Amino acid sequence: MEQFRIRSSPLLEGELPVRGAKNAVLKALAAALLCRESVTIKNIPLINDYHSMCRLLRTLGVDIKRIGERTARFFPPAHPHTVINSEIAKQMRSSIVLSGPLLAREGEVSLPYPGGCVIGKRPIDVFIDGFRAMGAAVSERKNGFTLRAKRLRGADIFFRVASVTGTETIMMAATLASGKTILRNAAQEPEIAALADFLNACGARISGAGTTTIVINGVRRLRGGTFYTPPDRIEAGSFAILAALLGKRVRVADCNPLHITSLLDALKHTGVAVVCGNTWLDIRAPKKLFAIDVQTREYPGFPTDLQAPFMILLTQAAGKSMVFETVFEGRLAHIHDLNRMGADIVLCDPHRAIVTGPTPLHARAMESPDLRSGLAFIVAALAARGTSTISQIHHIDRGYEQIEERLKVVGAHIERVSKS
Ligand code: EPU
Repeated sequence: MEQFRIRSSPLLEGELPVRGAKNAVLKALAAALLCRESVTIKNIPLINDYHSMCRLLRTLGVDIKRIGERTARFFPPAHPHTVINSEIAKQMRSSIVLSGPLLAREGEVSLPYPGGCVIGKRPIDVFIDGFRAMGAAVSERKNGFTLRAKRLRGADIFFRVASVTGTETIMMAATLASGKTILRNAAQEPEIAALADFLNACGARISGAGTTTIVINGVRRLRGGTFYTPPDRIEAGSFAILAALLGKRVRVADCNPLHITSLLDALKHTGVAVVCGNTWLDIRAPKKLFAIDVQTREYPGFPTDLQAPFMILLTQAAGKSMVFETVFEGRLAHIHDLNRMGADIVLCDPHRAIVTGPTPLHARAMESPDLRSGLAFIVAALAARGTSTISQIHHIDRGYEQIEERLKVVGAHIERVSKS
């Protein structure tokens, strides 16, 4: 068992390069199952979720060859297996995206209910309703379900909620369906457009990805292709928040600032000056931060995945800030620990909290409740007086590559140690 030991750190200085996006690469891996030829993926983030997804793909018959530090080639079999390994799938919510390609390609798939971070109920009705509309038969078991359809048929589908993985899964399934599929109230996250571009390069006929209406004209087969993993906007945003709190002068490099416009706007309103290039951001901590209200929203709104780190920043802002988490219930679990560190946060209901600042933060022993809160705790510990420990860091390793080594480069006092 490992944990992070983190000491209050001086002002941070230097460059923080951003890795490829977890939530993009995982979907490209699933998309490889739709293809008849090999798929090359570049700019791979070396995170645990990537390795877990590779393990899952191997159990389905995919051959994987690493051909560079961050490049690998995936060889899908003529007929992938259709039962998704529940041990691995339960660790990762994104395993559900495999259902679309396997059903479309093989006419059948069995999978467990997906796992991943515990951040609310996270139902799967959008997936099930979408597959049913495309003609699939769904049989549910206690621990999972099986989907069957000889060939999916195109359908006009309205998503009850603009689900990210729901949109990606049904979009992938529709690429091989007969006829036209229209997805309405689709999620608009940049990772969806990146996935559609890749599928189109392999021969799919998708238009509108990145908007609320996606149209897919089904084709018989997809070739292989190359996917360049776009930079992780959540990592970029988390580094930007860290720099806003503790940066003497930090450059967040290899990112796409256009993907975090909502965060940059929020930072501006808290008094943080950000200088933006095409692929970088220069940020330094201002003398004084101001309270603001934020509401998490689907893209292009303020990302729910940045809510926890942004709340740390708000503990140091003068005045009262309201944080309204509209996407997930149960994603404010970090508040209890932040209050133990000296923050003044009142949880109003499962979705809303009021943060009063600034209050000094003190070191504590904490457990990472999920991936994004874990990163937020690192930010809090770096800003706090004293030495904190964070355990359950496997959550953090799922999505951030060697985070301690990368933060050390800008002067953060963070060590990975064995838990005694
Ligand atoms: N929802 C339903 N029914 C469904 C699907 C979703 O009611 O069938 C609800 C959810 O409960 C939630 C809302 O719809 O209230 C939006 O959830 P969404 O389906 O968009 O989330 P997701 O696809 O499960 C992805 C990311 C999350 C990120 C959210 C929101 C992946 C693998 N995960 O999850 O990322 O928070 O979109 O942007 O892409 C993370 O990376 O740590 C992470 C949790």
